[in-house]
Formats: sequence, C-alpha cells, structure tokens
Amino acid sequence: MFTARQIFAQVQRRTFSASARQASKVTVLGAAGGIGQPLSLLLKLNPRVSQLALYDIRLAPGVAADIGHINTKSEVRGYDATPSQLAEALKGSEIVLIPAGVPRKPGMTRDDLFNTNASIVRDLAKAAAEHSPEANILIISNPVNSTVPITAEVFTSKGVYNPKRLFGVTTLDVVRASRFISEIKNTDPANENITVVGGHSGATIVPLLSQSGYNLEGEKLDAYVNRVQFGGDEVVKAKAGAGSATLSMAMAGARFAESLLKAAQGQKNVIEPTFVDSPLYKDQGCDFFASNVELGPNGVEKIHPVGKITAKEQELLGKCLEGLSKDIKKGVEWAKANP
Ligand code: NAD
Ligand code: LMR
Repeated sequence: MFTARQIFAQVQRRTFSASARQASKVTVLGAAGGIGQPLSLLLKLNPRVSQLALYDIRLAPGVAADIGHINTKSEVRGYDATPSQLAEALKGSEIVLIPAGVPRKPGMTRDDLFNTNASIVRDLAKAAAEHSPEANILIISNPVNSTVPITAEVFTSKGVYNPKRLFGVTTLDVVRASRFISEIKNTDPANENITVVGGHSGATIVPLLSQSGYNLEGEKLDAYVNRVQFGGDEVVKAKAGAGSATLSMAMAGARFAESLLKAAQGQKNVIEPTFVDSPLYKDQGCDFFASNVELGPNGVEKIHPVGKITAKEQELLGKCLEGLSKDIKKGVEWAKANP
C-alpha cells in the first residue's frame, strides 16, 4: 500500500521527470477558469517552473493563495484585473499561456465564440506584446484557428512579432487521437503518439494514423477520424451547458509548456505538434498550420513537413486547408479592422 505522499511523488516524477535547471517564470492569463485552475495546479507541480503568475479578471489572487500552499519550490502570485497588475504578471515571463475566454455550449461551433473571444485575446496579446515581447505565447482560447492569427497581427502592429514564439496549443487533439486508438487496438495510450496536423476545429483536425503504422479501413477509419475531429463536442455535450474540456486541456497545456521548458533548458529532439506560422501551405492561403514542430531555446526550431500520407488522408487534408484558410483570413481581417 502506498501512502498519499508516495503517490503524489510518483505522479510528479511521471509527469515531469527532470529537475529544474534554470529559473523560468510562467504566466497564465485566465487562471481562475475551468482550464486555468487545473493548468495552474499542474504548473505548480512542475519543478522547471520557478515563478507562477496567475492573472484573471476574477478570483486569481484566491487561486494563487490556494495553489501557493502546495509544497513545491516555485513562487505563486495572483494578480487582479488592473492594467498595472497585468503588466506585472507578464514582466520577465518565459511562457505566457492564454486560456482566457468563453467556452462552447451544446450546439455551438468554436467559431461561434469568435465575437467574444477575439477581443479578449487581442487585448491580452497587446499587453503581452508590450510587457513580455520575448515570451513564448501559447494560445488556448478558441477559435484557435483565428485567435492565433489575431495574436500575430497584434504583435506585428507593435513591431515585436517573432513567429518562432507564437503557438496555438493543439496538443489535446494528439492526446485524444492517442487515447482513442489505444481503445480500439487495446494498447497502452501512454505509448501512443498519433500525429495530428491542420488546425483545431472539426474538419481542420487531421489525424495521420497511417504514420503510426495503423491501417483502419472503411467505417472503422471514418468513425475514428470523426471522433478525433469532434472529440471536443463529445465533452461539450456531456457537460450539458456547463462548458467544454477543461481537465484534459489542462493536462495538454501543461504537457506543451513542459516541452517548451525542456527545449529551452537544452534538451534536444523535443517535438510537439502545434499550430504555428508555417511555410507548408502558405501557397494555399494557410499562413498558420499545425504539424510536428521541433522546439528549441528560441521556440520553433524546425517545422516538419506532413510527410507520407494515404490518399484518404490527402483528401482530409484538402478539406482541412479549405476551412482553415477561411478561419485564418477571418482572424487577420478582424484584427486589421479592430486594432
Ligand atoms: P472558463 O469560462 O471556465 O474560464 C475562462 C476564464 O477566462 C474565466 O476565469 C474568465 O474570468 C477569464 N477571462 C475572461 N476574460 C478575461 C480577460 N480579459 N482577461 C483575463 N481573464 C479573462 O472557460 P474554459 O473552460 O477555461 O475555456 C477557456 C477557453 O479555452 C475557451 O475559449 C475554450 O473554448 C478554450 N479551449 C481550448 C482548447 C484547445 O484545445 N485549445 C481546449 C479546451 C478549451
Ligand atoms: C476542445 O477541443 O475540447 C476545445 O477546443 C473546446 C471545445 O470547444 O471543444
């Protein structure tokens, strides 16, 4: 029988295996929300994080007081909703995670969140461009296909855009694709790592099952692809109006932040699929695209091409690019019209 302390230590070791080698301040904007709270908790358990800055328009000091009692080394501070507090939260930050914004209710698409979340992300991006222009900016707020281009426009307008440091977090798609295939093949999901490319909504999410050596056929493949593309809807429906994925997203966000910290602290060959400013499909109207990206001390180190795919995956990719180019254009045009 394990004691609670032993179990806690084991979880910590499994989730974050290396010890801290340098000071890293991480900021969460939207830290009191459904994602923000468990994400902040997981970041507090990560020994690579030395300072945790938690900002929200409500409740962030309370969340910080609570998380701050956990006996790991990092210092936690909560910041309330004033511009000077937001500036303080951002200053000196190496990673800024942004899960601020409203989640979906049943019947909504992610694009239905655009009208509310576009301005939330724009305003937080403006603050980040001013107070932490060199940080890695991790966008979680939906619709990611449009909020990432909005953030790029804001940073460009402030003269500080570095495409190597802006990431749309699509890790949850990979987490789901890996979990769902393990359920079909009866494998250990921890050993699965299915590549998912494209964007982060419906048909723009393209799992590349063939690259992991699996060949589901016909209806089985269609059902699998559909579940990965609409996994978010499964959670929205089950939560019945109380929001969308928060806990699995917190895990996915913490995993991506951990990968960036590992890479920044010198680890080689750290690869995560993520939605970045990418050369791969610019000629088809997609200035941003998620594919496997090697991370390094400067953020994006190398963008991997999609690689060899089946005719079926090619078909999915075609549909993805069609939808994705529209979502990106919508974000860019909105940001230009609403500076
Ligand atoms: P939530 O409503 O539970 O939390 C959002 C938080 O943002 C709230 O605490 C709110 O006070 C805060 N907030 C709102 N405006 C803010 C501002 N201007 N500055 C700072 N904080 C602000 O929602 P949630 O479930 O945490 O989801 C947040 C977002 O993440 C949604 O847009 C959702 O669609 C998205 N999401 C993305 C993924 C992904 O894979 N990228 C996965 C799940 C959810
Ligand atoms: C998800 O994939 O779970 C998120 O994008 C939230 C949503 O609206 O589905």
